[in-house]
Amino acid sequence: MESRYLSTILEKHFIGPIKLDISLGPLTTLGVGGKADVCLWPATAEDLAYLYRIKAQEAFPLYILGGGSNVIISDKTLHGVVLCTRYMSSFSVERQSDKAYIEVGAGLPLSHLVAWSHRYGFSGLEFAIGIPGTVGGAVVGNAGVKGEAVSQAILWVETVDGEGHVCRWKKEDLEWGYRTSELRDKDVFVSSCGIELRAESIELVEAKMNEHWIKRSSQPYHYKSAGCIFKNPEGESAGRLLDISGCKGLRVGDAIVSEAHANFILNAGQATAADILALIEKCRKIVMERTGYMLELEVRIFELG
Ligand code: EPU
Repeated sequence: MESRYLSTILEKHFIGPIKLDISLGPLTTLGVGGKADVCLWPATAEDLAYLYRIKAQEAFPLYILGGGSNVIISDKTLHGVVLCTRYMSSFSVERQSDKAYIEVGAGLPLSHLVAWSHRYGFSGLEFAIGIPGTVGGAVVGNAGVKGEAVSQAILWVETVDGEGHVCRWKKEDLEWGYRTSELRDKDVFVSSCGIELRAESIELVEAKMNEHWIKRSSQPYHYKSAGCIFKNPEGESAGRLLDISGCKGLRVGDAIVSEAHANFILNAGQATAADILALIEKCRKIVMERTGYMLELEVRIFELG
């Protein structure tokens, strides 16, 4: 696939921006990654449907990038198209007795939804305070904290498949797991979702948010990172296992295991994806040797096209 040719076809009908040869690092919270042949930001559902129709004819790899907070992008050029969801950020709400029914675009930052629920006093997403990324990413990865996850507030999810067909799934018709959902395995794009929150006093919502915020205060949020690197094994904390295995402070190039919370790998300057991945493997091996646990990745790795 020739990227200039592809962008010429797309530009005919696309409203959102299309850029060639874009560095992906700045689009992620970790700040590493090579370039992509084509990067585009759909502005409407029609943009998406058009993109998928062209994909059905031209067959190119498509990578979906939300807030870029839970992903490690390879240093080499990604040959394919990166779809950035950030502009698909519609928001509408309907109040029915003590419930708020919210319809939200996949590209809206989760933090905006959390801020809205705080401002107007609606309960259900207090745990999500401080979780970076977009609503779409949070839905696909069922983002959460111990015992709570985004799926608890979801009513339905709307997806677009490879032929451009739009489908609305009820929450009950999808499987939801720990930091994952069935949506991950389907070859679909999450375009929007429905959320249900319950009316509550602003003070109570704020108190719950504060509780979660305090728990997060041990995490190094002021540094470049991809959040927690590994999933917690059942009944254990990956951070604790890494810590007791002596991983804090380990370093490959500018990639460093945080001293504050061992499940965070920081980009302390000019780290590359190769540095981060090498450090991940080093930590995995050490934890396996010292504790017997084989840690599983929570972050996604964008493979090369
Ligand atoms: N711990 C250590 N050393 C460390 C880190 C943690 O001993 O370096 C200990 C803590 O003292 C605590 C236990 O391990 O006793 C659990 O740590 P923490 O409360 O920080 O929770 P966690 O299980 O490490 C989970 C989520 C975080 C989320 C916090 C909120 C996962 C993999 N991690 O962390 O999510 O912010 O709970 O309390 O589920 C993320 O998903 O990106 C993420 C950071």
